[in-house]
Amino acid sequence: SDNAKASGDFSKKPTCLIFLGMAGSGKTTLVQKVTSYLYEKKPAPYVINLDPACAEMPYPANIDIRDTVKYKDVMKQYGLGPNGGIVTSLNLFATQFDQLLGLLDKRQDQHEYVIIDTPGQIEVFTWSASGSIITEALAAGFPTVIVYVMDSVRSVNPVTFMSNMLYACSILYKTRLPFVVALNKARILPTDVVDSSYAEEWMRDFEAFDEALRSESSYATNLTYSMSLVLDEFYSNLRCTGVSAVTGARLDRLLELVGDARREYLTEY
Ligand code: GTP
Repeated sequence: SDNAKASGDFSKKPTCLIFLGMAGSGKTTLVQKVTSYLYEKKPAPYVINLDPACAEMPYPANIDIRDTVKYKDVMKQYGLGPNGGIVTSLNLFATQFDQLLGLLDKRQDQHEYVIIDTPGQIEVFTWSASGSIITEALAAGFPTVIVYVMDSVRSVNPVTFMSNMLYACSILYKTRLPFVVALNKARILPTDVVDSSYAEEWMRDFEAFDEALRSESSYATNLTYSMSLVLDEFYSNLRCTGVSAVTGARLDRLLELVGDARREYLTEY
């Protein structure tokens, strides 16, 4: 496949965007907004829902895992709880993933983007065999970019922010794919209380983050300090923007960063 990439075949293929993020970070809302944003431009994106447990989907999907596996039936049949049911549903779906890749191959000239929504609980996808199988299969055939969705309202606490970024960092190392961070729920609605620029400042300016950490009573250990130094290194190459999945603000910037990430894939993977 390295030869295919070198010969430029990959440069004509659509970009696969895998949306990942903690439960409630706004993945589904953002997927919906990006999808309708792209629908207004042409060509329309190819949309895949990999969340077997979502009740209703606010966007039209070309492929929906719920058409193939019924997560409630899987729970009953295997005597599983909700999380086990979701993991097993994803495993069942992964066994047929080559068929989906075949479909994508046939449709690849018609699309510029393939959009993939993942299960609500992030670890179901990032720490399961099937999540890795699906990610690797996509990345072997198409330029693939991770969009990590972060809830900027819940991350105003510097320690929480750091934990979320460490998680992002672990996903980067695990997938080794180009990465874009979407700081969602940025203050764009009048009712939103948080301006996501605090996060951008923390990433740009280590002193500012260090100061915020010092004001935390829990900031006591050398480990915390060391980890923030490690993250400083991670931030230095990170593509990141505030967005609002509700209003659609700064989606243009998000897609610009996705374009940069795609170029990174084409030159380095
Ligand atoms: P699960 O997959 O269900 O775990 O969540 P998710 O990550 O897909 O998040 P979802 O899109 O369901 O959004 C969670 C909540 O955040 C919903 O109530 C959304 O309306 C809200 N939300 C999402 N994006 C934004 C945003 O940009 N601004 C504001 N104010 N709320 C948002």
